[in-house]
Parts: sequence; structure tokens; C-alpha cells
Amino acid sequence: MSFRRNPIIAVILVAFALGFTVSGADQRGGFVDLCAFTGANLTDHFLGLYCLNDATEVFSYNYTWINLDYCVGNNAGTLVSYENGAYSGTCTNCTIAHDATLELTCSCWDMDNHHVTSTLDLNGTIYDADGSAACYAHKGNKTWEP
Ligand SMILES: *[C@@H]1O[C@H](CO)[C@@H](O)[C@H](O)[C@H]1NC(C)=O
Ligand SMILES: *[C@@H]1O[C@H](CO)[C@@H](O)[C@H](O)[C@H]1NC(C)=O
Ligand SMILES: *[C@@H]1O[C@H](CO)[C@@H](O)[C@H](O)[C@H]1NC(C)=O
Ligand SMILES: *[C@@H]1O[C@H](CO)[C@@H](O)[C@H](O)[C@H]1NC(C)=O
Ligand SMILES: *[C@@H]1O[C@H](CO)[C@@H](O)[C@H](O)[C@H]1NC(C)=O
Repeated sequence: MSFRRNPIIAVILVAFALGFTVSGADQRGGFVDLCAFTGANLTDHFLGLYCLNDATEVFSYNYTWINLDYCVGNNAGTLVSYENGAYSGTCTNCTIAHDATLELTCSCWDMDNHHVTSTLDLNGTIYDADGSAACYAHKGNKTWEP
């Protein structure tokens, strides 16, 4: 499994070994320190990621998928963090990209029925719930790497 040798994951492993605790994660946002962007996958409105488990002995990279419609809305052409926002009904051509954080960019309908491009920093919305990507009270599922 070549992803075990990925440098990003190696950095996370070191952080974990130094006593970084997943349970201390903010309940809204903050996932970028706990989930690896390598392998992040946006399929329709589902985001797939590798996130850390609490228990070191089960620190194998289970993958998680979360339905971003639970997390993101379209406020008149601007992507916003919003519970059950269902952005995908009024936004299209969505992509994810990362530098220090993970960002969702879409083309969304505004009040004048035009499509405008909008970007949302998902670190303000998604958190790591013991290996599941989550937002608000919604937890993504856990599965093995795709
Ligand atoms: C992500 O969010 C957490 C919690 O709010 C914050 O501590 C951290 O600095 C953020 N990281 C980035 C890269 O924005
Ligand atoms: C993203 O996940 C979907 C569904 O599992 C898969 O079909 C697709 O190949 C993946 N894309 C990438 C770039 O890994
Ligand atoms: C996550 O990984 C651990 C360790 O291999 C395994 O015991 C557990 O069943 C996995 N969870 C899921 C939902 O796949
Ligand atoms: C979505 O992307 C396609 C292909 O790049 C493009 O033709 C179309 O105009 C885009 N639609 C919007 C609303 O941005
Ligand atoms: C997790 O959710 C994704 C996206 O809905 C789905 O494709 C996958 O089958 C689910 N996996 C499990 C183990 O529930």
C-alpha cells in the first residue's frame, strides 16, 4: 500500500505520535490537521478522505465519505457553511483543490439567475469524528480506501 509512504501521511503520523489527540478536534471545522488531502475525492456531492481514528492500534487508513449537501449551502451565489444546505441543487461544476486547506469551488446560481464562481474553505465546516469526516451533527461513513 504505497500511500503509507506518502509524506503527508508521514507528517500526520509523527504529529499523532507526539500526542496529538483526535478527540480534541473542534466540533465544527478543523479537519485539515487530521485528514490527508492525498486521495481526497469529490464524486457528485460526496467528499471522500482519509481521516485519523482515535485508537492508535486501528490507525489504518480507513476512508470516509461525507455528503456535502449536509454541510454546504448556496446563499445567492456564494457557497456557505450551512447545515443541510443542499448546495448541489443550485451549484454545478464543483471541484476540490488544496494548498494549506481544502477548498470547494463551484459555479452557483445567484439571485439574477446567473452562474457565479464561488469557493468555500471546507476547514471551516468539516471536522474529523474519529475517522469519519463530519459536519454539524452529520457523520460521514467509514470504508476502506477506494
Ligand atoms: C483549520 O481549522 C482549525 C480549527 O478551526 C484551525 O485551528 C486551523 O488553523 C485551520 N487550518 C487552516 C490551514 O486553515
Ligand atoms: C473518486 O471516487 C469514485 C467513486 O469511488 C471513483 O470512481 C473515481 O475513480 C475516484 N476518482 C479518483 C480521481 O480517484
Ligand atoms: C477501520 O479500521 C479498523 C482497523 O483495521 C477496523 O477494525 C475497522 O473495522 C475499520 N472500520 C470500518 C468501518 O471499516
Ligand atoms: C460547466 O463546465 C462545462 C465544461 O467545462 C462548461 O461547458 C459549462 O459552461 C460549465 N457550466 C457552468 C454553469 O459553469
Ligand atoms: C460510503 O458512502 C459512499 C458515498 O455515498 C458510498 O459510495 C459507499 O458505498 C459507502 N460505504 C460504506 C461502507 O457504507
